[in-house]
Amino acid sequence: MSHTVGVYYRERVTLAVCPGSFDPITLGHLDVVRRATLLFDEVVVGVARNASKSALLDVGARVALAEAACADLPTVRVVEVPGLLVDLCRELGAVAVVKGLRGGADYDAEQPMALMNRHLSGVESVFLTAAPRYAHIASSMVKDVARHGGQVDDLVPPGVADAVRRALGVTSPGAPSATTHHSATPLSAPGGDTSPGSAAHPNQGVS
Ligand code: PNS
Repeated sequence: MSHTVGVYYRERVTLAVCPGSFDPITLGHLDVVRRATLLFDEVVVGVARNASKSALLDVGARVALAEAACADLPTVRVVEVPGLLVDLCRELGAVAVVKGLRGGADYDAEQPMALMNRHLSGVESVFLTAAPRYAHIASSMVKDVARHGGQVDDLVPPGVADAVRRALGVTSPGAPSATTHHSATPLSAPGGDTSPGSAAHPNQGVS
C-alpha cells in the first residue's frame, strides 16, 4: 500500500544475553554492553557463576552493581543466571550471546564456551571489542590492584571500587593506613577520612 511505503515493520524483537561473572563489572564490560544495545533491541546482562573462579562479591552484589552501572541504558536489564546460560537464553528467546574480547587470549577462552553453548542449544555467540582504552581492564586485576591499595576507581563504574574495597577489607588509596603509619599523628587527623567509602576519583564514569 502506498501509505506504508518507506515504513519498515519488523516483527521480531531481537534480544541478546551478555553473560559474565562481573566480579565486579568494569568499564570494559559496560562498553561492550553499550555496543550491544546498538545491535539488539534488548540486552540482558546475565550475572553467572563461573565454575572455575571463586567470586569476591556475592551474586546479589554483582547484580546490584551491574544494575546501577546500566541504569542509563533503557533497553538493558540485569538478571542472575541461575543455572546454564543456554537455559536462560531459551527462556528469554535470545538470538545471541554477546561477549567482549580484549585479545587472542580472550578468544581462546571464549571459543570453547561458544561452541558448547551452540552445541547445547544452537545459540550463536557474537564477539565485540571494547574501546582500546579499556583493553587492559580485567575484573581479576581490579581486585588485585585494590587488594594492594592501588587506585581502581577509574577502571570501574561509580560505586564499584568502594564495594570491592569493602569486600576486601581495605581502605581507599591515599587514606592513612594503620600498617604504614609511623608518625605520632593520629589516624583520624583532620581531613583524613579512613572510611572505605571515602574515595572519589575525577575520572569516574564512562565516556
Ligand atoms: O566473565 P566470565 O567468568 O568469563 O564468564 C563466564 C560465564 C559466567 C559466562 C560462564 O562460566 C557461564 O556461562 N556460566 C554459567 C553456567 C554455564 O552455562 N556453563 C557452561 C558454559 S559453556
